[in-house]
Amino acid sequence: MKGIILAGGMGTRLYPMTKVVSKQLLPIYDKPMIYYPLSVLMMGGIKDILVISTPNDLPLYRSLLADGQAWGISISYAEQPRPEGLAQAFIIGRDFVGDDDVCLILGDNLFYGVSFPKYLQEAISDNKGGTVFVYPVKDPWRYGVITMDKDGRPVDIQEKPEAPKSNYAVTGLYIYKNEVLDIASRIKPSARGELEISDVNKAFLSSDRLSVIRLGRGIAWMDTGTPEALLEASSFIRTLENRQGLKIACIEEVGYRMGYIGAAQMRALIDSLGDGEYSQYLGKVLKEDIY
Ligand code: TTP
Repeated sequence: MKGIILAGGMGTRLYPMTKVVSKQLLPIYDKPMIYYPLSVLMMGGIKDILVISTPNDLPLYRSLLADGQAWGISISYAEQPRPEGLAQAFIIGRDFVGDDDVCLILGDNLFYGVSFPKYLQEAISDNKGGTVFVYPVKDPWRYGVITMDKDGRPVDIQEKPEAPKSNYAVTGLYIYKNEVLDIASRIKPSARGELEISDVNKAFLSSDRLSVIRLGRGIAWMDTGTPEALLEASSFIRTLENRQGLKIACIEEVGYRMGYIGAAQMRALIDSLGDGEYSQYLGKVLKEDIY
């Protein structure tokens, strides 16, 4: 299973913050936003990851994440010249994905929950075609919306509907069999000029191979596209981290606990991070003061 993080886009709702800096490099409390989706893929056991971003921003991602070896993973990069839709990830990432299955996550999506890594690992091993995660929201018209029958099977998908038929939004995490590459290459731009991920999901739905996993109250899903949402996400992470003394989406810790790196590599990471609170935390993880 390969992983793709889509970290392009214009970030217009965050202007002027995102005039010169990519949205997914902005901080969510104590770390760059992209650490959150990256840690999700790592916890799902995915170690071969493609970061897609704009030609302007890609050098910044390379500078931040390099080849991923520091965390025991492999990171490659590809350009999306213009934000022409989420499904374009599979056209840009075609060679990278090769013959594998693929998990796509949006660079501005934050998932949190004790059972979440388990959900993801199970979803990856059970995936029959496409798997999406849905979440109840107050403002479904902003998202792709799924309607389910009484047994929880998907029956309909609407993209940003004026009259949503349910309050279940499709979150920015998608698991697909390799055929998604062909499906994405066949879909046509929508009225708003984008290659819609909803059209990819509809293709799997029409062949009865779309699985839907409902995330409930025990899981937090946030997107971080507006100033308000950005601050809320930071406050949420700060509250949890301060209360527990444990970090969320700390990719160094994830790499270490997943066994992707050993103690010597962890020590090198700590040395590279100065002596601030973040590296002190990693020191505690290494000494097993935190577990
Ligand atoms: P959006 O929130 O739809 O777009 P945006 O981030 O550019 O923000 P705005 O609406 O304020 O201009 O995108 C969701 C995520 O997907 C975000 O991480 C950017 C990314 N994205 C791409 O990388 N390429 C694309 O073609 C699109 C549509 C989105």
